[in-house]
Amino acid sequence: MCGIIGAIGNKNIVPTLIESLKRLEYRGYDSAGIAAVVNHDIQRRRTVGKISELANSLASSPIESNVGIGHTRWATHGKPSVANAHPHASDTVALVHNGIIENHSSLRHDLEKKGYVFSSETDTETVVHLITDELKKGKTPLSAVKDALKQLEGSFAFGIIFKDSPDTLIGAKKGSPLAIGKKDGCVFLGSDAIALSAETNDVIYLEDGDVVELNENSITIYDKNDKIVERELHKNVISGDSVGKDPYAHFMLKEIYEQPIAISKTFASLMTSNRNIDAAKIPVDWSRISKITILACGTASYAGLVSKYWFEQLARIPVEYDVASEFRYREAAMAKDGLTIVISQSGETADTLAAMKYAKEQGQKILSIVNVLHSSIARNSDIVIPTLAGAEIGVASTKAFTTQLTVLLMLALNAAQNKNTISRNALQETLAAISDLPAKIEAALQESDSIKEIAEKIKSANSALYLGRGSLFPIALEGALKLKEISYIHAEGYPAGEMKHGPIALVDEHMPIVVLAPSDNLFDKTASNIQEVAARNGKVILVSDTEGYKKLSDKAADSIIVPSANKNVLPILYVVSLQILAYWCALKRGNDVDQPRNLAKSVTVE
Ligand code: M6R
Repeated sequence: MCGIIGAIGNKNIVPTLIESLKRLEYRGYDSAGIAAVVNHDIQRRRTVGKISELANSLASSPIESNVGIGHTRWATHGKPSVANAHPHASDTVALVHNGIIENHSSLRHDLEKKGYVFSSETDTETVVHLITDELKKGKTPLSAVKDALKQLEGSFAFGIIFKDSPDTLIGAKKGSPLAIGKKDGCVFLGSDAIALSAETNDVIYLEDGDVVELNENSITIYDKNDKIVERELHKNVISGDSVGKDPYAHFMLKEIYEQPIAISKTFASLMTSNRNIDAAKIPVDWSRISKITILACGTASYAGLVSKYWFEQLARIPVEYDVASEFRYREAAMAKDGLTIVISQSGETADTLAAMKYAKEQGQKILSIVNVLHSSIARNSDIVIPTLAGAEIGVASTKAFTTQLTVLLMLALNAAQNKNTISRNALQETLAAISDLPAKIEAALQESDSIKEIAEKIKSANSALYLGRGSLFPIALEGALKLKEISYIHAEGYPAGEMKHGPIALVDEHMPIVVLAPSDNLFDKTASNIQEVAARNGKVILVSDTEGYKKLSDKAADSIIVPSANKNVLPILYVVSLQILAYWCALKRGNDVDQPRNLAKSVTVE
């Protein structure tokens, strides 16, 4: 999604804007730009494509200024083009925007009637002309912005500069995230802590309805009632270094290899020193929970679907699972004494936030699992359990997913312990298995070279199927999503037992069929499905442990070996091989692994 940055200070801030835009690249974008005030004039540079294009444009036509704004655009209204790229500007004001102005058509109509001429197809440009119109009435920049905001419907985070007020940078937030930081005579605003990471150690997160006026030495925040307020200062846990990818070729690869440590940290954060689950960190009386509803989008939703198996099998609590984009509009009837679990890496996904709001209105207690600590979802939850994955930059989620699974399994175990539905032995065995996971994942990653060879064989496929049973069915969905996102090969995840009810018609000698078949209680069932595919010359890629390999490898075109482990942790282990398979397929097809086409890291619009 769009990323914004703004800076004002006692030095030339243009290099800082470019550096910050580079750090925002991970959010996904198709064009970029900056604007700055130079001698009572607004100067802009905008380009389609990568930030390097923008940097080249600045190198050939430099700008120096003490106040400016920058933007990475992920197109919503209007195609990627220089005219549609932000910042948008009139001759008095320039602004950058993340969000959507829903009433832009009627505003545009009214402004055109007043004689304003639009040079882009964007919803954002209406706001430029609205502020310009308010300034023409003789208002100060702050009053002009506040009065313009009153006319807007939709979501926004803005950074705004003014030709005639080079000592002022204004920000505003409603629905989209906006953070403020300060360091060495400069003040910054940005979409997230990553944008500000090299610049500031402390960060303030604005609340919905806030407007902030920034000067070289001051930050003044007005809340939705126009009262001056202080907002809490947080440590910026993202350091400049932590957002580098060295020594890996891609952030995605780095993040795949960071999973052992991320899981280990997340697990340790929920354990006591004497190897019990730290109940104080999970303040839920599970015996009083009549039903769990799980809401999330994309990969995070598949983590939720895996946990449905855990909560039901281990703790005997009924679970309803839905993708947030569907749930938010289906007027679901929700159980009394229900707990809603919301899962999100970014904590800013618009659909998830809206679904969570609905659940809250229905009287549900909200427990969220987020990777970005001070995100909107975290701030609006009753209970927050963080995943300790660290910054996830690759658009394709990897370590956020496996740490979400780790938290969810710990919650299910805690619930089972609380409700006496698990024996002490079974509990200790599963905790030991989670503790062993980092080593097992490292062993699974040793297979990377042979998975690379499989990728070479399937890289030209048009389509692929992923099959799994039980808690590995959602992993089949996630494996297919990973392949789609970065290799652009169509892929579908399917419950293995459903094959014969339709998809088996697709089987031919060309389509790879990735089958997740650990030696568990469902092994024989999945083995039958493999036989059915093999009998029709299907190209099976078997993912199994050594025992499963011995029994089935003759039916498979290729095999990926995964260490054997306790049944409960298999989803966390098996997904790693599928991440690596998608990674190599994408690379062999020459794709941009970290910034796949059309995708945004954090989807802050509907
Ligand atoms: O930040 P969130 O976890 O809420 O994001 C949800 C999805 O947009 C996200 O998981 C998406 O599906 C990823 N690109 C998956 O790799």
